[in-house]
Amino acid sequence: MFDASQELVLTDRDLRKVVRLVYDHSGITLHEGKRSLVMARLQKRLRHHGMSSFSAYLTHVERDASGEELVLLLDAMTTNHTYFFREEQHFAYLTSRVLSEWRARGSGGPLRIWCAACSTGEEPYTIAMSLADTTPAVEFGLLASDLSTKALKAAKAGVYKMAAVQSVPLEVLRRHFEKGMGEQAGFARVSANLRRRIAFRNMNLLEIGDAGERFDVIFCRNVMIYFDTLVQQRVVGMLERHLKPNGYLFISHSENLNGVTHDLRWMAPAVYQRGAA
Ligand SMILES: C[S@@+](CC[C@H](N)C(=O)[O-])C[C@H]1O[C@@H](n2cnc3c(N)ncnc32)[C@H](O)[C@@H]1O
Repeated sequence: MFDASQELVLTDRDLRKVVRLVYDHSGITLHEGKRSLVMARLQKRLRHHGMSSFSAYLTHVERDASGEELVLLLDAMTTNHTYFFREEQHFAYLTSRVLSEWRARGSGGPLRIWCAACSTGEEPYTIAMSLADTTPAVEFGLLASDLSTKALKAAKAGVYKMAAVQSVPLEVLRRHFEKGMGEQAGFARVSANLRRRIAFRNMNLLEIGDAGERFDVIFCRNVMIYFDTLVQQRVVGMLERHLKPNGYLFISHSENLNGVTHDLRWMAPAVYQRGAA
């Protein structure tokens, strides 16, 4: 019988195995504090299976031909921290500079944006709200993707605790959210109007060869910080290929492209542009 008070055992060998699995399948490098991180994040999975050793759990992951347990392992190991209007200068830059250039080029068709690593949805919804409020006449389409199926599920639902929408300006909140009543009290839901403008898709930045289209703007923020230079190079190369000529790439202010080879032009802090065709 499984005893919940039993201490979980994580050997150095098993820790190395987890680190390798996470790196190979997500590109994420686990740094210092990885032992306690792995213990904390994976113990729910072990408990779920009634296991008290990581060796048994890892054998289960390896033998699971469906690949489902690996997905759950990666879900548990990704850091999904995000919030509405994070690094808000970027949204102002998007709705002013990027939009005016895009209009001046008269490209036609909707503005295509990809939010790669969208986590629980706060970032793509912020993009959609910013565009809808400042340039309502501009037609746009948003693809939002992430590796974590759990984060994506939350993103699609678009339901947030009231505490999570505190960074949303009050008038924006009133315009784009519905306040939950009864059982939903204490939660706010993004309006259906906004939700239907975003296509959410499970995509692994490491595995994308060709996403099937080119974008005017790509947001890929606060994920490359978990990657080493090798993985960053691979991901930046892939993102660059997915930009239209003159397209923009937004990364995070806590990231940089030092050590990565690319043909993008630095435009503003954490903002890069592809050259004209
Ligand atoms: C810290 S969140 C950043 C969310 C948002 N972009 C922001 O800036 O607030 C990092 C996200 O990257 C995702 N991620 C990590 N590795 C990934 C990969 N290889 N492919 C796609 N998404 C990945 C995680 O699941 C997580 O949701």
